[in-house]
Amino acid sequence: MIQSQIPTALAYDDVLIVPKHSTLMSRSEAITKTRLTKKLNINIPLVSANMDTVTESKMAITLARLGGIGILHRFMTIEENVEEIRKVKRAQNFIISNPYTISQEVTIKEARYFVENHGVAGLLVVDDDNKLLGVMSRRDFWFNENPDVKVKDIMTPREKLIVGHDRITFQEAKDLLIKHKVEKLPLVDANNRVVGLITGEDIRNSIQYPLASLDANSRLLVGGSVGVHGDYLERAQKLVEAGADVLVIDIAHGDSEIMLKAIKEIRDICGDVQLIAGNIATAKAADELCRAGVDAVKVGVGPGSICVTRLVSGCGVPQFTAVMNVSRVAQQYGVPVIADGGVKKSGDIVKAIGAGADSIMIGGLLAGTEESPGVVMQRNDKKFKICRGSASFSVAMRRKNINQEKKNLGDVVPEGIESIVPFKGLAVDTIVQLVGGLKSGMSYTNSHTITDLQTNAEFVRITPSGQQESGPHDVVALT
Ligand code: XMP
Repeated sequence: MIQSQIPTALAYDDVLIVPKHSTLMSRSEAITKTRLTKKLNINIPLVSANMDTVTESKMAITLARLGGIGILHRFMTIEENVEEIRKVKRAQNFIISNPYTISQEVTIKEARYFVENHGVAGLLVVDDDNKLLGVMSRRDFWFNENPDVKVKDIMTPREKLIVGHDRITFQEAKDLLIKHKVEKLPLVDANNRVVGLITGEDIRNSIQYPLASLDANSRLLVGGSVGVHGDYLERAQKLVEAGADVLVIDIAHGDSEIMLKAIKEIRDICGDVQLIAGNIATAKAADELCRAGVDAVKVGVGPGSICVTRLVSGCGVPQFTAVMNVSRVAQQYGVPVIADGGVKKSGDIVKAIGAGADSIMIGGLLAGTEESPGVVMQRNDKKFKICRGSASFSVAMRRKNINQEKKNLGDVVPEGIESIVPFKGLAVDTIVQLVGGLKSGMSYTNSHTITDLQTNAEFVRITPSGQQESGPHDVVALT
């Protein structure tokens, strides 16, 4: 049937939020805590995109420390993917319940190799019965030229160590570390068996990052992502076993039979892991995924900075309308919504939440930071990094190499591009600006909480003149 009426759909730039009388005395009163999924909360509503130029462990660690969460990309082997999850899970703890240990008979050459490969600052030295014999720290390597010296010859022996008991509190551990000026506090039971480790760095981190997104064991939250073809079931299972708190089933067209099949299969093997499914752009798709039992839905078909889906396929829905339509349905099921893609400025985050989203996934704005994967390139006096779409030709090549696929690259129809973005320094600087802008928007709408913003936002549609008026005009901008 040929359509007789064509509805209008809007992008973030097509609308503004009407300011309201505010009872917030300062924007610092705005609380940005939100729901990522049915069971997981985060303290700032920012999620880094599972793109190979955006999120590996470094970005995930930074974002979780600041109160958001990173979703690792999947364009690597399952083993590498598992190791990336583990790196995030080991980055911060209160008690490391299974610290790395080493035998005293190992040479320092082997010990150094282990330390460098696992990104740890030291190792506990134990006997066959897991009884503590000493501690080997990075410092101990510095002054030893002979690689064949054994660990037992240079470790700090048990009798010189300060140790804690297995039910130690945060305050007790902190006091011990400060009093004895030590970096590591091994925890032992009554028989001197190792039951855990507390590090000074972990204690420092928990003081320095009060908003960090943490699991029940005070480890940083992290997500993994899977597709719906190839090794996705094995990958899903291994990522969850490695400690992923949430899995994103991420495909270009999430409103599909193949998505429903994958949700069921992953539920069967991964139990009640928090599952996010996407991407979708309509109310009907939201209804379908919510009924399939997912814990959050991800919205966005074609709004991303590196997407050409809409140009290639002619399909998509401008993101503001897509977020609003999906959120209206998802809210009825109590399923949180992630608005994914198309955020150019902090104001877009405010609009997305005002349209009903609970959190925002960001790619391009975080690509080009210190923590994003990839090297910094320099041209003249400017620095850049690569940002590329997951459906770009270069990612197709990467996938072919990893999976040793026989696929003919001539058949690839890319729906994403490869681009360069200016090097932006540390991700924290970008995140501070985004969260500051969000809090400002909350203040303009009298929103003390994210739920208030979802309720209070009242939009007006603007014209091209309104858009022009909204940015700097009639001046020469210096930056
Ligand atoms: P931003 O605008 O934050 O968007 O850079 C990030 C989101 O874009 C999506 N994405 C793609 N979409 N082709 C697409 O159509 C692609 O190659 C592609 N790669 C990423 C994805 O949802 C991401 O989170």
